[in-house]
Amino acid sequence: MRKEVFGRTPDGEIVELYTLTNTKGMEVRLTNYGGIVVSLRVPDRQGQFDDVVLGFDRLEDYLKGHPYFGAIIGRYANRIAGGRFVLNGVSYQLTLNEGQNHLHGGQKGFDKVVWKARPVRSARGVGVRLSYVSRDGEEGYPGNLSVTVTYLLTEENELRIEYTATTDRDTIVNLTHHSYFNLAGQGRRDILDHLLQINAHYFTPIDANLIPTGEIRFVRGTPFDFTQLTPIGARIEEPDEQLRFGRGYDHNWVLAGPPGALRLAARVVEPNSGRVLEVWTTEPGLQFYSGNFLDGTITGKEGRVYRHRYGFCLEPQHFPDSPNKPHFPSVILRKGARYQTTTVYKFSVAP
Ligand code: BGC
Repeated sequence: MRKEVFGRTPDGEIVELYTLTNTKGMEVRLTNYGGIVVSLRVPDRQGQFDDVVLGFDRLEDYLKGHPYFGAIIGRYANRIAGGRFVLNGVSYQLTLNEGQNHLHGGQKGFDKVVWKARPVRSARGVGVRLSYVSRDGEEGYPGNLSVTVTYLLTEENELRIEYTATTDRDTIVNLTHHSYFNLAGQGRRDILDHLLQINAHYFTPIDANLIPTGEIRFVRGTPFDFTQLTPIGARIEEPDEQLRFGRGYDHNWVLAGPPGALRLAARVVEPNSGRVLEVWTTEPGLQFYSGNFLDGTITGKEGRVYRHRYGFCLEPQHFPDSPNKPHFPSVILRKGARYQTTTVYKFSVAP
């Protein structure tokens, strides 16, 4: 594990960059600014390493603003309609940072704060534990929320992420990780040939503002059926209302199996390199976003231009807008209770 200075925020706070490696040669670089995974190098079928996440070489570029590359998302991943919800009979108004929506924690979410960091080592591997206290009222949320996020690189080529949170007042919380992956190597081409399998028979359709309608829809017979490995691009241009609303895939899948148990959520295979990504999680849902808003206006690492659909996100989480959908799994964290979730991104190669 190596630690260096990545830069300074405009407030003069020093930001660090940590490099984790394992004996297989896998390398993860992450910063305590936003808990961002800056690079992730994994081998292909021939043993050639490449960086498989989008991002920037310099802190300054992250500070200028970007679509959540590699970041920790909180307090609430994805959207809350009107930024409004009612808890214990009290109505709360969160900041609106995407039209009439609250998105990814608001104006200054967990992706833009400087976390305290300390190196950790366990039987599983080496890593960094990030912690942050979000003050009562931050972005409109109730309760002082103490959050830890531990990134661990294991000898099984896994990036393991453990989240915990406690609060001194009842509140809502829904944390996730927002890497944009491209298993062909970052910035080389689009992700449409990647094969994707999602372990889900249902998804939550959205309206034109990308807010779930509340329906839980069967995937069979729709472009949302990823129960078998299917190229991401196979149906993405079909004339389907849901694909039109999302401008492609930008939806939450209802994962099979019992939430709370660490189970396989998704598998991605990049046929040329042979790189495979498995996503394991304890969460009930998975947001699959096919990088539809990338449009070639961002130049990332090594001067590579991030064009339309050059990366995809697989974000294990609770369902979007759950506070306003009583039949969705609850996102309420009670005073004195402990929020605890785990997600694992596991890399390997297909024969
Ligand atoms: C959302 C997209 C959003 C993106 C931010 C994803 O998690 O589902 O709608 O545009 O994050 O870049």
